[in-house]
Amino acid sequence: MEKNIAKLTTADLQFYEEKGYWISPKLLDDEQIARLRHAHERVWAGDYDGDGYAMYGHISVPSDPHQIRKLDNAWWINDEVRDVVTDPIIGEMAAYLMQTNEVRLWHDQLIYKPSAGSTNTQAGNVGWHQDYGYWQASSNPNMITVWIALQDTDLKNGGMMSVNGSHKWGLIPDSDTFFDQDMNKLKEKYTADSREWVEEPCILPAGHASFHHSLTFHGSGQNVTNEPRLSVVAHLMPYDTFYRPGVQFHHNVTLLGARPEAGQRFANDNFPILYSK
Ligand SMILES: [Fe+2]
Repeated sequence: MEKNIAKLTTADLQFYEEKGYWISPKLLDDEQIARLRHAHERVWAGDYDGDGYAMYGHISVPSDPHQIRKLDNAWWINDEVRDVVTDPIIGEMAAYLMQTNEVRLWHDQLIYKPSAGSTNTQAGNVGWHQDYGYWQASSNPNMITVWIALQDTDLKNGGMMSVNGSHKWGLIPDSDTFFDQDMNKLKEKYTADSREWVEEPCILPAGHASFHHSLTFHGSGQNVTNEPRLSVVAHLMPYDTFYRPGVQFHHNVTLLGARPEAGQRFANDNFPILYSK
């Protein structure tokens, strides 16, 4: 982690509250970036740290080389990923943006977007979606995604885009469309009610991160460079995040124990604390 990272200011908070996202200064030093890039190689090759298993029991690498690769809770099997997604500095930044005193990990994601090469494939696209569209078992949409770039990232290599202010729209029905790769069709769907749709690219030099609200619409298009686009993502929640039953399944509910109860906090070893004031 870079030393001497300045504390966030009220101007940062205002930007986040207005736009639904905020771009950090450089968080990772070059050595840590290199280690995390190596962690990607090891994870996709099935080379684990520790004696456990990947979430869902195995690593799934799509047979289509242009398809996006995604693994949830890579921290279970990789020490470098664990270190960054539980980092207290990242936690403190998120605490400030969520205006909470304690931050825990909801889960992480390792995402590998291959080059589209000379094809016109959409297989690497991430459809416009709201993260909370998947997370309705959580009582609290005041959650944050920290998307960390492991190389210079812009629209050429399929970098993320956010829709300005879309977190203020609330939860839009059926917005769990990460794997729907027709970006134009999704945009039509989500603007059907005359919402003002202004896309903003998240241009991130290596080691910088975008912090976005769980209701902010985001997605990403083709990687037209010759190199894969690597990222590590931490999904974070504030202290007062409880289980809300009867709405939607999420795998995290199974991590609360055999008989989870309404109102139970997502607060055990499966959800490590990054920061506590
Ligand atoms: Fe997302």
